[in-house]
Amino acid sequence: MDHVVTIQDLADDEIASILDRARELLPVARGEERSDAVVGKILATCFFEPSTRTRLSFETAMQRLGGNVIGFADSRTTSHLKGETLADAVRMVAGYADAIVLRHPQEGSARLAAEISDVPVINGGDGAGQHPTQTLLDLFTIREELGKLEGLTVGLLGDLRYGRTVHSLAAALARYDTTMHFIAPESLAMPRRVTAGLPDGWSAHTTLDGVLPELDLLYVTRIQKERFPDPEDYVRVAGAYTISAETLRDAKPGLRVLHPLPRVGEIATDVDETDHAAYFRQAFNGVPVRMALLEMLLGGD
Ligand code: NCD
Repeated sequence: MDHVVTIQDLADDEIASILDRARELLPVARGEERSDAVVGKILATCFFEPSTRTRLSFETAMQRLGGNVIGFADSRTTSHLKGETLADAVRMVAGYADAIVLRHPQEGSARLAAEISDVPVINGGDGAGQHPTQTLLDLFTIREELGKLEGLTVGLLGDLRYGRTVHSLAAALARYDTTMHFIAPESLAMPRRVTAGLPDGWSAHTTLDGVLPELDLLYVTRIQKERFPDPEDYVRVAGAYTISAETLRDAKPGLRVLHPLPRVGEIATDVDETDHAAYFRQAFNGVPVRMALLEMLLGGD
């Protein structure tokens, strides 16, 4: 494994190793044990788009493993503002660090960076493309919460068109014999470029009614306001779905609700107190999972 641009870059056994290792690393992730796995290594976090969880959990992961971090959270403080190209920026940073996490509004940016960089590039989200490390922590969370990945019935709900997390997640879930229900307004349906890569076993819906009682997992996403070419279109679909404790009345008792976060109203806070809510544990899981990935890319030499 070299670059992690899409979830397809990871083989089944690599995903399994990362999830297994993440579990072993939980005490280190919590700060209860120490690790020197990547001591002397430097991770660059280059974020051209807002981030809370992805950047901070990568930085925590690197530091918990004894490594160091450089980077920026606001590209307006970099030469980007002077008109420097992404290609030039990546060429520089590859000389300063042993791996690069890149988040950029343009789909395909991480692929471009990987072609230029001679250190591993990890895609931290490329526009409406993919978000493979979110998928790794989603898979880890599903396995921790439900005890397995195989044969589940999963609902992906919200902005399936512009939401990058669901693009990588759907591709990954297809490897585990998952029955997938895509629930979205028609204008935000799962793109054909994603569904074309899926085996049979998925269906599209515009409401959760009827589907909910079958689900083992409901993955809720935010409507990606920043990606709408026309703000009017956003207004038409904003608030299309709100999941509350009442909405979940007909769900299986063991249903788990996940969300990559941030939520902006899709999940009412009264869900937080129910046994269904797993999204805050999910957010924490970014640390051990990213540790396992960094160890795999940078450790052991
Ligand atoms: C997501 C993203 O950036 O794609 N956030 C995250 O990394 N947890 C989801 C979102 O912004 O809606």
